[in-house]
Amino acid sequence: MDIAALNATALKMVEPDKGLLAADESTGTIQKRFDAIGVENTEPNRRDYRELLFRSAEAMDYISGVILFRETLYQDAADGTPLVKLIEQAGAVPGIKVDEGAKPMAGFPGETLTEGLDGLPDLLAKAHERGARFAKWRAVISIRPDLPSWGAVHANAHALARYAATCQDQGLTPIVEPEVLMDGDHDIEVCERVTRHVLQTVFAELNIQRVALEGMILKPNMVVSGLDCPRQAPVEEVARRTVAVLKACAPAAVPGIAFLSGGQSDEQATAHLDAMNRLGGLPWKLTFSYGRALQQAPQAAWAGRPENVPAAQRAFAHRARMNSLASLGRWEGVLERAA
Ligand code: 13P
Repeated sequence: MDIAALNATALKMVEPDKGLLAADESTGTIQKRFDAIGVENTEPNRRDYRELLFRSAEAMDYISGVILFRETLYQDAADGTPLVKLIEQAGAVPGIKVDEGAKPMAGFPGETLTEGLDGLPDLLAKAHERGARFAKWRAVISIRPDLPSWGAVHANAHALARYAATCQDQGLTPIVEPEVLMDGDHDIEVCERVTRHVLQTVFAELNIQRVALEGMILKPNMVVSGLDCPRQAPVEEVARRTVAVLKACAPAAVPGIAFLSGGQSDEQATAHLDAMNRLGGLPWKLTFSYGRALQQAPQAAWAGRPENVPAAQRAFAHRARMNSLASLGRWEGVLERAA
């Protein structure tokens, strides 16, 4: 294992004033996004949409890496240039989502286990050949009055750790993503307790499976109130609780932490990241790895029409710049209104 190379990729993924674009929606998930804007979910439309993003020169100035769905890694732009090349030309690192999704977990009603370990070494070797230098695997944990169970947390943490060890063996830097979902009416204290338990379990498993923490990126949820909770915690409280949990669980050897947006509004996701970076004294880089919070605006502006491409690229550039400022703790709400 070449820890120095894995570490160099991790550092590039969290380089100052940049963050990751999660454009790795599966064909089923992009269907939902396209349905919302009245676009047919065809291979050429998926290609055109993602090409629009990767050719957004201004936005890509703020993007250190792009997470791709497997189809996109092997797709070419309309002019025949591989989409991976567009990402590299923009100065970003291409990466690939390798999990097969969260599937119902036998014996654990209401919970899921993320699958995809079978055949993983071969898949990673081929992705590396095509230019991918990092990978992503997302585990999903739900909060209910009686969940999550220890069995589901442990099985998901174990799979994440086996995935991460396999990535490092194949020369790809793993993004380790244990997502505690926002769905539910639980208070922020519950999210904090569950997130802490999940992260402790994940790092215990990473250590057991001999994963080099220097050669990975953590992609966690933020500690927030449940979506249907009557008391929505303010920005400063989210920042304080999230950083406290991460300090307790994520060793300083981890080069960077890149958050998912998980259903927060665009501006909330930016404001929370900004507030955390304003706290200062953090042992790791804290940045974004947003899917929805970077793409909702450009998707709405595009709506599948070629004449809307410049407007979509402007919308993408705006969100990328706002999140870049947040990664430095220099975002101001007034910048949103000005735009
Ligand atoms: P969201 O920011 O939309 O949560 O997506 C990030 C991601 O990669 C989820 O796996």
